[in-house]
Amino acid sequence: KGCKLVGCGSAVPTLQVSNDDLAKIVDTSDEWISVRTGIRNRRVITGKDSLTTLAVEAAKNALQMAEVDPDDLDLVLLCTSTPDDLFGSAPQIQKALGCKRNPLAYDITAACSGFVLGLISAACYIRGGGFNNVLVIGADALSRHVDWTDRGTCILFGDAAGAVVVQACNSEEDGLFGFDLHSDGDGQRHLNARFKENDADHDLGSNGSVLGFPPRRSSYSCIQMNGKEVFRFAVRCVPQSIESALKKAGLTGSSIDWLLLHQANQRIIDAVASRLEIPPERVISNLVNYGNTSASSIPLALDEAVRSGKVQSGHTIAAAGFGAGLTWGSAIVRW
Ligand code: ACO
Repeated sequence: KGCKLVGCGSAVPTLQVSNDDLAKIVDTSDEWISVRTGIRNRRVITGKDSLTTLAVEAAKNALQMAEVDPDDLDLVLLCTSTPDDLFGSAPQIQKALGCKRNPLAYDITAACSGFVLGLISAACYIRGGGFNNVLVIGADALSRHVDWTDRGTCILFGDAAGAVVVQACNSEEDGLFGFDLHSDGDGQRHLNARFKENDADHDLGSNGSVLGFPPRRSSYSCIQMNGKEVFRFAVRCVPQSIESALKKAGLTGSSIDWLLLHQANQRIIDAVASRLEIPPERVISNLVNYGNTSASSIPLALDEAVRSGKVQSGHTIAAAGFGAGLTWGSAIVRW
């Protein structure tokens, strides 16, 4: 059994925050940010917007393009590290879409690799049988977990949602040619947003020992990142992963139409493209307008490229995600 991409959609919050806006709250400049990252603007969730509302809008756009009715969905995968509900937000999206058959809906947490992982999960469900239409949404609101006094991280991230519909088809039409997925828990020290364990949060027993029960209400730390290490990891692991996925697909860098990487930093995108000998005109990039939108960056950039006519039916795309975990992975797909 094969699977193919039949629709995409995206949504971004209305509030735009420029580099100059950020320079008013931290010691930075438009020049520093744009030279080091390629980013000039990002969108930030405010007011009525939530991760769920953005994800629902992106999903509706993808379903409309795919001409798939919400009632025909067999599975909804929400790839996010920033759900509105810690227990998972996918069922809320399923409800908002009005899927009457109560299809399974759950969250996948793999930071900026989430969308690629969701796409491969969708393909595995379809190929395993019993699933015909799977909605894969990448949505993140890292603005909620950024330390807005830390100029090393707050300049990078933005909020958005993107979605695709993956559909069962016969093997001749199969649109997933190869993939490659990895993680390395050792690298967590370079990029994380850990649960804060603080002894002061626990009651002390009569002898002064920490009872640790009942635990007090706690929270997660803001994003902690060693930018240089994450940069090195990305330019080392992403080309290897894409090469491995291409090999499984029986393809080479020269036979793909588009390179579509997680939009983290233009310098990372350029370095990976150069290592794979893919010229700039075959590289998709929109981070100048949105920054790093984590799990949503690949479907957001795909949606823009499809709707602008850049990516056309039959084109082959090498997509790769990478980020916290550490996690990374690639998929060679046909649009
Ligand atoms: N404005 C001005 N100066 C700054 C800023 C800023 N926003 N941020 C840091 N600096 C300063 C530093 O303090 C440092 O000053 P010093 O030399 O006096 O000590 C200098 O600029 C250089 O800082 P570096 O951190 O070494 O800068 P670098 O060239 O590494 O760029 C960056 C930093 C842009 C973060 C880069 O390392 C990067 O993009 N790394 C990859 C990060 C990434 O992609 N993360 C996303 C992962 S996805 C996920 O899963 C969430």
